[in-house]
Amino acid sequence: HKKGFIFDLDGVIVDTAKYHFLAWKKLANSIGVDFSEVQNEQLKGVSRVRSLEKILAWGNKTLSEDEFMKLMGLKNDDYLSYINKMDASEILPDVSKTLDFLIEKKQAIALGSASKNATPILQKVNLFHKFQAIVDGNDVSKAKPDPEVFLIGAKLLDLKPEDCIVFEDSVAGVQAANVANMISIGIGEKDVLHEADYIFKDFTEMSPAFLEGLISGTVK
Ligand code: G6P
Ligand code: MG
Repeated sequence: HKKGFIFDLDGVIVDTAKYHFLAWKKLANSIGVDFSEVQNEQLKGVSRVRSLEKILAWGNKTLSEDEFMKLMGLKNDDYLSYINKMDASEILPDVSKTLDFLIEKKQAIALGSASKNATPILQKVNLFHKFQAIVDGNDVSKAKPDPEVFLIGAKLLDLKPEDCIVFEDSVAGVQAANVANMISIGIGEKDVLHEADYIFKDFTEMSPAFLEGLISGTVK
């Protein structure tokens, strides 16, 4: 049984969700807008453009095209200042172990992220070589919850969507996986990710038996 395991990046493989939050918050505050951690859930898995649109809507602001582009650049520069300091110690618990387990079982592994910074981040934490396919914000035209990112992933792995499993920490990503007809596994809080087929707090809670079940198809 060969299955495709598609991993989201931010908040699943590495704890960069906190850096996105800090950078967006600083940017928003600089234009007199504030938002809560609950609202921040709506920014997870969402593209850079869409995130700024949401923040502006929360603050009832409109900007010229030029200002909009400038603010997106400022947010990304700030975000990159965090990313540049990253190393393998920021890989989330048991992610490496899970990847190695799946590789040993000859499973196909892809990345399915909305981020345009995905490749440098994977290189920084030294996980890039573990992925057979990378689909990121540079490859998609329709953001999650649209299933495009995961459908391209399945195609690159040469597998049917129904033979793919998605790990996601965002509501939009879980919805995208569901629409793609893949098994959705939420990584995070049950009350936030209740639309997922299975939910775990993190990879330390996922047993080898569960992963074996996904591979053999007894877990579906
Ligand atoms: C991921 C994150 C989002 C982020 C998006 C774009 O989906 O969860 O918070 O906005 O990627 O990331 P980028 O690195 O391209 O700004
Ligand atoms: Mg994420």
